[in-house]
Amino acid sequence: MKQIKAKIISNSRIKPSYFKMVMRARTAGPGEPVRAGQFINVRVTGRAGVLLRKPLSIYSACGKEHSIEVLYKVVGRGTEVLSRKAGGDELDIIAPLGNGYELPKKPQPVILIGGGTGTASIHFLAETLIEAGFSDVKALIGARDRENVICEKDLNKAGCEVQVATDDGSKGIRGYVSCLFESLAASAGPSMAVYACGPRPMLREVVRISRKFKVPCQVSLEEYMACGVGACMSCVVKTRKPSGGSSKQFVYKRVCSEGPVFDGSEIIWE
Ligand SMILES: Cc1cc2nc3c(=O)[nH]c(=O)nc-3n(C[C@H](O)[C@H](O)[C@H](O)COP(=O)(O)OP(=O)(O)OC[C@H]3O[C@@H](n4cnc5c(N)ncnc54)[C@H](O)[C@@H]3O)c2cc1C
Ligand code: FES
Repeated sequence: MKQIKAKIISNSRIKPSYFKMVMRARTAGPGEPVRAGQFINVRVTGRAGVLLRKPLSIYSACGKEHSIEVLYKVVGRGTEVLSRKAGGDELDIIAPLGNGYELPKKPQPVILIGGGTGTASIHFLAETLIEAGFSDVKALIGARDRENVICEKDLNKAGCEVQVATDDGSKGIRGYVSCLFESLAASAGPSMAVYACGPRPMLREVVRISRKFKVPCQVSLEEYMACGVGACMSCVVKTRKPSGGSSKQFVYKRVCSEGPVFDGSEIIWE
């Protein structure tokens, strides 16, 4: 983890509320290797700068070029200020943060599930898996409506078979992405690995289905964060004690430093 000055290469609107930003580290020398599932914490400065840094998943990265890509939705002041940055502007980022996804140890079918902006996190995982030789990678994208379906083309380009579910049926099947997952899991059998990032209710349902089909499932949480580096405890979640046991026996874990990726069965969903 390093505080880095990064130069924005491009910051383009890809949908009415979504932007893709490419940045390159100014820091000399080899950078720290970046893993899928890790995130960056961006300081948003300018006339209307905001106090807290903004966590964004790494959408793609190139170690040779020291470049990092993020895909973000404009939801409030911080992301709005970020959307007004242009090529050549400088950003202060802390990266890479968090633990990242563990890749399967052996070749097997993989299902990636992204809900809303969580889809950005699974895109980098898709690229990483395909580069590592995994040939059967399916991506399921869930969104409120077609305007909020993101990464479909990029996931296709990375080599994934993509299926979409929207709440209003304006793209793909009508319904939740967890329904797509449940029917796929029923036909795929227990030899697959599952990864998901998105809103809590979606993750809870994905974990329930994974348990039903006895398949391993890693989830990446997008909790509210303040410091982003493990110091303030504002991002804690309840997890089962390593010895297992009931939900009354729990330990708090910090999503920013001990996550954001957890084994799905570890989280106590409330
Ligand atoms: C590890 C991690 C990775 C993330 N990756 C991405 C990403 O790749 N792309 C992306 O678009 N967003 C991502 N987010 C969410 C992003 O950080 C927030 O949308 C952003 O910080 C909002 O800042 P803001 O100042 O624009 O809005 P704020 O004014 O802070 O909030 C505006 C609205 O968004 C809601 N909001 C803010 N933060 C969150 C959050 N963490 N979870 C749910 N709702 C929130 C608030 O409740 C409020 O309604 C990620 C969050 C985390 C913790
Ligand atoms: S955000 Fe401060 S400990 Fe996680």
